[in-house]
Amino acid sequence: MTEKYFKSLNYSLGNEDTTLEVEMVKKLNPKKVLAVAGSGGRSLPLLCHGPSDLYCVDLSKEQIHLTELRSSCYKEFSLEDYLLFWGYPPYEPEDNTRKRNTLFNELDLSDDCKKFFSRLYDEINWISPLYLGKWEKTFQVVAKIIKKIMGSQHDKLFQFSTLEDQLDYYEKDFPHLRWRFLVFLMGNKSFFNALLYKGHFIEKNVEETHFEYYLKNFDHLVKNVLAKESFFLQLVFLGKVLTKEGIPIEADPSIFDDIKRSLNEGNASLHLEQKDIFELVKKIDNIDFFSFSDVPSYFTGDVEKNFLQNIRPCLSSNGVVVLRYYLRISEVDETGYQDITQDFSNLIRKEKVGMYRIKILKNIS
Ligand SMILES: C[S@@+](CC[C@H](N)C(=O)[O-])C[C@H]1O[C@@H](n2cnc3c(N)ncnc32)[C@H](O)[C@@H]1O
Repeated sequence: MTEKYFKSLNYSLGNEDTTLEVEMVKKLNPKKVLAVAGSGGRSLPLLCHGPSDLYCVDLSKEQIHLTELRSSCYKEFSLEDYLLFWGYPPYEPEDNTRKRNTLFNELDLSDDCKKFFSRLYDEINWISPLYLGKWEKTFQVVAKIIKKIMGSQHDKLFQFSTLEDQLDYYEKDFPHLRWRFLVFLMGNKSFFNALLYKGHFIEKNVEETHFEYYLKNFDHLVKNVLAKESFFLQLVFLGKVLTKEGIPIEADPSIFDDIKRSLNEGNASLHLEQKDIFELVKKIDNIDFFSFSDVPSYFTGDVEKNFLQNIRPCLSSNGVVVLRYYLRISEVDETGYQDITQDFSNLIRKEKVGMYRIKILKNIS
């Protein structure tokens, strides 16, 4: 076998906490939802409130396969088996290989998806691919460097059960100097281009330097979110999710059964679309909730300027669009939209990745 299947995965866990979007759909109850698929972990939880349709769109075939695999896991597995299959705590990705193989054989997958994962799992001897995406592997390198520089201090942030205790530690004992050095070393375009983006890292337009951006966002995160509950902070410092409280929204017990019910008993139609999002929006309409991920931060030129106008025909009146700007706030024509970000400020403050400037718009045309 020459091709390394696992090397084609970009995001195997993901880098957004879509608890925000989940809380929004619970409140707004949209019928038709569109989401950038990613690993499926960001998009499939948007089935929790029982929509009529969920469109998961991604340019990447592998990300759509991952989304299909996760959707089938929701249909077939108990939460316990879901955790075991993916290798979330209390399970390890490297353990339970035989059981994972047995569970995989229970899944009802399309031929393409089955073939892709049969090869991938054979290649990795039935461990979980949870941390094998390019993004996740990059952060395992980051975690190793942090451990080297911080030594025994590298995991101290994760021992607290109240924000008060965490803040006390952060203010008095956290190794700020070493942290600033690490952010200086790794929080920049050259580092991410070398390790991950191969020259395609976002063209930043926020005023802050990369160093200021990451330092400020980390500071905000530590002051608002328990590190024990943030899968992202755990990936950065520890290389993987080690606490039960840190398991991302995809396997949250409070919505797991609702997602399952939506797929198995509800009327939700799941559409897995491997295509450009702008191609998809031409074919669908009446979208009430549009989860754009941080995709717009990669746009430049006319695409950047016009993307909100180009998706408007597919939105229902009052349809809501969630944008997660990362380093680049789109210079975009917002005509016909109302900014409703403030209505969700409490949820945004608690987002557990903390690296995004989230903007929420409502179609008022
Ligand atoms: C920018 S990435 C970020 C990953 C995401 N934050 C997560 O947690 O999974 C989101 C996904 O968008 C997809 N993507 C980028 N541009 C796209 C486009 N124009 N249409 C559809 N998908 C796109 C990429 O293939 C990638 O899988």
